[in-house]
Amino acid sequence: MGVEIQVEHLTKRFGRQTIWEDVSLTLPAGEISVMLGPSGTGKSVFLKTLIGLLKPETGSITIGGRDITKVKERELYEIRKLFGVLFQDGALFGSQNLYDNIAFPLREHTKKSEGEIKRIVLEKMEMTGLAGAEKKLPGEISGGMRKRAGLARALVLDPEILLFDEPDSGLDPVRTAYLNQLIVDLNAEIKATFLIVTHDIATARTVPDNIGLLYRRHLAMFGPREMLLSSNEPVVRQFLNGQRQGPIGMAEEKDAGELAAEAAGGGTLGTLPPIPQQLPTSDGSPRATQRPPGSWLREHGVVPPPGSFPGLEVDLPQAQDGVPTGWTGDSPPRPMAASSGGGAFAGRNGQRDEDRRIEPLRDEVRPVRPRVPAKPPWRQAGDDSLATALLERRGTDDRGRWTDTDTDPHPDPDTADGSDAAETAPPVRGRRRAARR
Ligand SMILES: Nc1ncnc2c1ncn2[C@@H]1O[C@H](COP(=O)(O)OP(=O)(O)O)[C@@H](O)[C@H]1O
Ligand SMILES: [Mg+2]
Repeated sequence: MGVEIQVEHLTKRFGRQTIWEDVSLTLPAGEISVMLGPSGTGKSVFLKTLIGLLKPETGSITIGGRDITKVKERELYEIRKLFGVLFQDGALFGSQNLYDNIAFPLREHTKKSEGEIKRIVLEKMEMTGLAGAEKKLPGEISGGMRKRAGLARALVLDPEILLFDEPDSGLDPVRTAYLNQLIVDLNAEIKATFLIVTHDIATARTVPDNIGLLYRRHLAMFGPREMLLSSNEPVVRQFLNGQRQGPIGMAEEKDAGELAAEAAGGGTLGTLPPIPQQLPTSDGSPRATQRPPGSWLREHGVVPPPGSFPGLEVDLPQAQDGVPTGWTGDSPPRPMAASSGGGAFAGRNGQRDEDRRIEPLRDEVRPVRPRVPAKPPWRQAGDDSLATALLERRGTDDRGRWTDTDTDPHPDPDTADGSDAAETAPPVRGRRRAARR
C-alpha cells in the first residue's frame, strides 16, 4: 500500500548553478502530496532526482530502506519499477494508438501474453475514463484525454509511487477539475504514494494531504495541507494565497524600502482566506490515508481563518483574545510518526534562515537551451525524451547525464510548458514492432 519516500538534505546543482539545496521531507506512504513552486524552481528536476534520472550532489533519498543515490545501477533499475510517472503532456508516441501507447511498458518490461496485456490495458483505460478510445491516435484527442492516456500508461505496471509533472498545465479549469477528481479517486483505489508537481495554487489548496513549496532554491515548507494553508510564514502565506502583499515581488524580491513602506501602511500581509474543503472522492468515502477535516488544526490548537471548511460542520479551535489566527510556527519537529492512518508528520523545513540569501527570481528562470541534439531524433523533446528514458529505464552517469546519449535532455522552459508535441515512434524493440513512420 504505497511506499514512503524520505528525502534528507538533498542538493542539486548543474555546474555552478544550484537548483535547490538542503531539501528534506518525507512523502508518507499512500498519501497525496503536492510540490508547489514558481516555474523554473526545479520541480521537474526534483521529480527526475526522485526517480534516479538525475543524481543529487549531496543528500539521500530513501525508498524501502535503500538510499537510491547510493545504489548500483542494477538495483536502481529494480527500484524504478515502483514508480509510475505522468509527464507534462502525457508524452505519448504520436504514431501509435492509445492502446499500443498504454501497452508499451508491459511489452517492454514484462513477459505477459498479449491476452493478459489486453486485460490490463482495458482495465486501466476504464479506470481513467478512456474506454472505447483504444484506436485513437494522440493527435486526434484533446489535451485532457492525452493526460489520461499518459496516466493509464503510468498505471499498467501497478506502481507504488505515482509522480505527476504538472498534470494541470495546458488544461482549462473544467478539465483540470476532472483530472483532479480522477487523481483523488485513483489514490483511493490504488493507495499508492502520490506526488503532484504543479504551479497551480487551486490544485495545491484542495487536492493533497500535504503541501510543499519550493522557492528560491529552498524548500520553504513541507507539511500537512492545513498547516500550510493556515501558515503565517510570509512567503508561504503569500504564495499559497496568491496575494500581492508580502515578500514576493513581481519580478524579483521586494527591496527593504518597499517592505518598510508596506509595514508603515499597516501590516504587510493580506487577510488569510478560509481553508477550503479537501476534494472528496466521487462517492464521498474517505481515502485510506485521509485525515478528517480540521484534525491538524485541533491537534496543534491553531485557529483557522473564519469561514474555513465551508459547508462542513467541523469542530475547530476558536479565536480568543490574544490567540492569533493561523499557524505562526515552523514545521513541527521531526521525526513524527510516518503518518500511517493519518497521523501528523512533517519535514524539517520551514525555518527561516537569515543566511539564506534571497536573490532575484530571474536568475532561476534563465532557460538553458538544449544543445542541438545528436541522433537519435526521438530523444529530443524535453520531457518526452525523459519519458522514453524512463520507459527504457536507462540510467545516468555521475554527472547526472544519461548514459547512452550526449544530448542535453533538459526541456526548454519556454516551450516545454503544456506543449502538445507528441513523441515520435520509439526504436523498434520488443516483441511487437512499433509502427514506423
Ligand atoms: N539537464 C539540465 N542541465 C542544466 N540545467 C538544467 C537541467 N534541467 C533543468 N535545469 C535548470 O534547472 C532549473 C529548474 O528547472 P525545472 O526543474 O524544469 O523547473 P520547473 O519544473 O520548476 O519549472 C532551470 O533553471 C533549468 O534551466
Ligand atoms: Mg517543470
